[in-house]
Amino acid sequence: MMFLKMPRLKKYQLRLISVCFSALLFITFWEKIDNNIVSHVMSFSYRHLFNSFTFINASLRVNPEDVLKYRYLINHERKCDEKDILLLLFVKSSSENFERRQAIRSTWGNETYIEKTLGVTVKVLFALGLHPKPEYRSKLKKQLFFEDQRYHDLIQQDFKDTFHNLTLKLLLQLGWKENYCHHSQFLMSADDDVFVHIPNLIRYLQGIGRNAKDLWIGRVHRGSPPVRDKESKYYVSRDMYPWVSYPDYTPGAGYVLSKDVATRIYQASLNINPSFHIDDVFLGICAKVMDISPKDHLFFSGEGKAPYHSCIYNQMMTSHGHVSDIRETWKRVTEAEVDKESSGLIRRLYCTVMKVRFLCVPFISNSYPCKAAFFEQ
Ligand SMILES: *[C@@H]1O[C@H](CO)[C@@H](O)[C@H](O)[C@H]1NC(C)=O
Ligand SMILES: *[C@@H]1O[C@H](CO)[C@@H](O)[C@H](O)[C@H]1NC(C)=O
Ligand SMILES: *[C@@H]1O[C@H](CO)[C@@H](O)[C@H](O)[C@H]1NC(C)=O
Repeated sequence: MMFLKMPRLKKYQLRLISVCFSALLFITFWEKIDNNIVSHVMSFSYRHLFNSFTFINASLRVNPEDVLKYRYLINHERKCDEKDILLLLFVKSSSENFERRQAIRSTWGNETYIEKTLGVTVKVLFALGLHPKPEYRSKLKKQLFFEDQRYHDLIQQDFKDTFHNLTLKLLLQLGWKENYCHHSQFLMSADDDVFVHIPNLIRYLQGIGRNAKDLWIGRVHRGSPPVRDKESKYYVSRDMYPWVSYPDYTPGAGYVLSKDVATRIYQASLNINPSFHIDDVFLGICAKVMDISPKDHLFFSGEGKAPYHSCIYNQMMTSHGHVSDIRETWKRVTEAEVDKESSGLIRRLYCTVMKVRFLCVPFISNSYPCKAAFFEQ
């Protein structure tokens, strides 16, 4: 038998190799890291030192007559006929996402369940455009027709449903609320892969009171720089947005507006150029024009998925990235609702420990910030 003897590396040699390797990596990617750090520092300084976005007024303005209007292909003008509506909840969906809509209807978006167990009226609607590939449209049209016959909850306009048209979908929601559901106390917008803890959300909105004003809540992004990397789907050219910082905004995954704020943002949106395609930043721009600022809520998730734990369920509002596990999560959430009563001191301490474990240890979860472990909101 023959075997080759590998040269044995000494410890210091190994260390040297790894240092060289890291240095190489660092040099290779320095430009990217550098760009990122610099743009964040500049953006953050801009946001906190100047915080004047007066330029928005002049430069992103359009004449409302010049903005294309899109027709409704499916509409429900009488959906909000009831007098007392607490919340109009728009879920941004796409024609082909039937499964996701079905999961939402039978879990957190079940209007009947909400009415029965929480005692308030919530209207859940799905906002859709047209499939980007015309060859799929006629088949989908039939399917959507039958789906809508059954559930009466689709709102579709005739724009192409693409990432770069998300601002048009936002305008659909704002416009629909204004025209057909003006009296609803709140408006929420959520993605169709978001889990909304509807009992917590409803309790929160009820706690604020029926005549809440000036409310815009979600996870707030402050002083974010525009992405200048052409590979990224969030890329925004300097022609479109020349400044180093965006106004404060809440990610489109889920946020809530009070009635008056929705109306003012709608009015501002009529005069802002909708070719700015990042819908949540667009909303931030409209709000800035109207001098409205968002309020941060620790338990709205920007992107991450909430850890599975009853201590988290007690407080969570939204959690992102749910596709196949919506029903499972709903089951756990409703079960946790039932045995929620045991909220003594011991339980509270235990929950703080669990939350610290989930939220404050890096790389376990990126759903809620560490400080969410210590606050009751
Ligand atoms: C919604 O909830 C009601 C009442 O709890 C229930 O009867 C109904 O089956 C649910 N709808 C769906 C689609 O699961
Ligand atoms: C947005 O929708 C309009 C109307 O359907 C379409 O003409 C346009 O190409 C779409 N834009 C993008 C970027 O998809
Ligand atoms: C933007 O312009 C409008 C009307 O032209 C004005 O009412 C509003 O106060 C301005 N907003 C800011 C932030 O300067």
